[in-house]
Amino acid sequence: MEETHRIPNIQLDMARLPRHIAIIMDGNGRWAQARGLERAAGHVEGVATVRRITEEASRLGIGYLTLYAFSTENWNRPQAEVDALMHLIATAIERETPDLIKNNVSLRVIGDASRMPADTLARLERCVRDTSAGTGLTLVLAISYSSRWEITDAARRIAAEAAAGRIDPAGITDETIARNLATAFMPDPDLLIRTGGDMRVSNFLLWQIAYSELYVTDIYWPDFDGHDLRVAIADYQRRQRRFGLTGEQVK
Ligand code: IPE
Ligand code: IPE
Ligand code: MG
Repeated sequence: MEETHRIPNIQLDMARLPRHIAIIMDGNGRWAQARGLERAAGHVEGVATVRRITEEASRLGIGYLTLYAFSTENWNRPQAEVDALMHLIATAIERETPDLIKNNVSLRVIGDASRMPADTLARLERCVRDTSAGTGLTLVLAISYSSRWEITDAARRIAAEAAAGRIDPAGITDETIARNLATAFMPDPDLLIRTGGDMRVSNFLLWQIAYSELYVTDIYWPDFDGHDLRVAIADYQRRQRRFGLTGEQVK
């Protein structure tokens, strides 16, 4: 008789949950290729993971979940894959909006909207509007996003303000920069997770992860589940965040 394998429950300190978790959702293509499937099949399965992880983060009471769905550099992938991804994002958003509302989740999008297909952008904007009353988890999708795009864009706006005489260059602080980033509405990530095993940040939230705790797992994104998220949070809770101080100072 087959035995049911029960995954041991991970004990989390609910008083010390990360307020903001950011995830580099990597490994869809390799997950598919390992099964002899097209890369697109991995992206489809990846959408199911987004749903699972959003639900788990929401259940746990996480404040912000930022998911890296499509990078500026991903525009250079084969056109068929880009098209498939944009279509997938649009249809998934449409389908999931009612459940997002039911779960009190509000959606935000960060990234260079000017490069997105009009219908994908329209559906994203509609979902942002329709979920704006949500007071639970804020789900942030980074689409057509890269940190260098974001910082360059901020620099351009700050320079324009200075040229117009509205701000004094000598008065620019790190707060000025942070206020001009696409992420200005939320705190910096406490925990950055990357699936798929690669130890790199791939142009994601470079400014904001200055003091984030990093967690890389070999698990491919389509296989990542609620239990894996809890394992990552438990790992985070074992760290001592020192922010440049000594261990004694922060005790
Ligand atoms: C992540 O999976 C999804 C996107 C970047 C859109 P990949 O498509 O990068 O999968 P791998 O890294 O090739 O396995
Ligand atoms: C990072 O994955 C971007 C997203 C998850 C959207 P990539 O697969 O694009 O990153 P690299 O190319 O391995 O650095
Ligand atoms: Mg990848």
